[in-house]
Amino acid sequence: TSSVGFVGYRGMVGSVLMQRMQDEGDFAHLDPVFFSTSNAGGNAPAFAEGAGALKDAYDLDELAKLPIIVTAQGGDYTKAVHADLRGRGWNGLWIDAASTLRMNDDSIIVLDPVNRNVIDAGLANGTRDFVGGNCTVSCMLMGLGGLFRNGLVEWGTSMTYQAASGGGARHMRELLTQFGDINTAVAAELDNPASAILEIDRKVLATQRGGLDATQFGVPLAGSLIPWIDADLGNGQSKEEWKAGVETNKILGTSAADRVAMDGLCVRIGAMRSHSQALTLKLKEDLTVTEIERLIDADNEWATVVPNTKEASMKGLTPVAASGTLDIPVGRIRKLEMGPEYISAFTVGDQLLWGAAEPLRRMLLIALG
Ligand code: HSE
Repeated sequence: TSSVGFVGYRGMVGSVLMQRMQDEGDFAHLDPVFFSTSNAGGNAPAFAEGAGALKDAYDLDELAKLPIIVTAQGGDYTKAVHADLRGRGWNGLWIDAASTLRMNDDSIIVLDPVNRNVIDAGLANGTRDFVGGNCTVSCMLMGLGGLFRNGLVEWGTSMTYQAASGGGARHMRELLTQFGDINTAVAAELDNPASAILEIDRKVLATQRGGLDATQFGVPLAGSLIPWIDADLGNGQSKEEWKAGVETNKILGTSAADRVAMDGLCVRIGAMRSHSQALTLKLKEDLTVTEIERLIDADNEWATVVPNTKEASMKGLTPVAASGTLDIPVGRIRKLEMGPEYISAFTVGDQLLWGAAEPLRRMLLIALG
């Protein structure tokens, strides 16, 4: 069995990864070595008894002993360590959740149900940096792979409804604290059925404008939304929106000639851990809705078509329905009035599973052979 180094296994993405690996029995196929940025010498996690003491995540000698390193420690760690490790000649496989190396020419974005061909070609050609994609892009391609992989999409827009978890653990806590504080501000009125709703609304707004801790998000999210995610690129586009186009094409391995234009607006909403997105796609052909649904359903075992009815959509096509599962429900598929090649779709995916941990876990298994 091969030794595998794990860095950042205690953070939110790392914890989801460790849980998935335990659930699937992956540790039977490898010898884990755990690294810490803050607790070197401490105990390895209880689920991996016998793994030895934690090693220092900045110790290049220790890192360089390993044929495979998996990190969910974050982009600052990747920046601090990766180039130095390569610089001293380390040739192992680096499997990373952070975006730092994602768009490098010598890295591959991993989403094997969609781009196993790209991954296999990379392994054969000596690629050694394998990076998880942006969560929204990965979830979108898992859902609509059947259309993209068959070359049926001319262009698309993705209007997103992104969960608090995309910001991090503290952002999730802040959202819940805001919900609680808002409730507290009007608890007495809510208990009294005779109280006036406009008075409740006035108090809620006053709380949102003046009384909420918004340290993480910058502005209140509970009972509101934030129509900007990640950096301002200065051209009117957010970095999250830019990723939709460049990462989609990199994952699919499209050539310049058959590049698919993907662009849209990315919006943070008060969901916990599942990202949703409303898509408009211009297809290259006038396919029937039945054929579109068949292609989506057949593409991979996780994409599931939700019938385009009110009841099925309300039950099966929400963050509450998708969270904690690997299912990627895809619904609201219909032809739009703009013409027979224009369709809508709505898809939801757990941002911590297919959006982060699962592609890394699966890349590790591919690397282990
Ligand atoms: N940028 C994403 C978000 C996180 O903020 O939702 C994961 O790629």
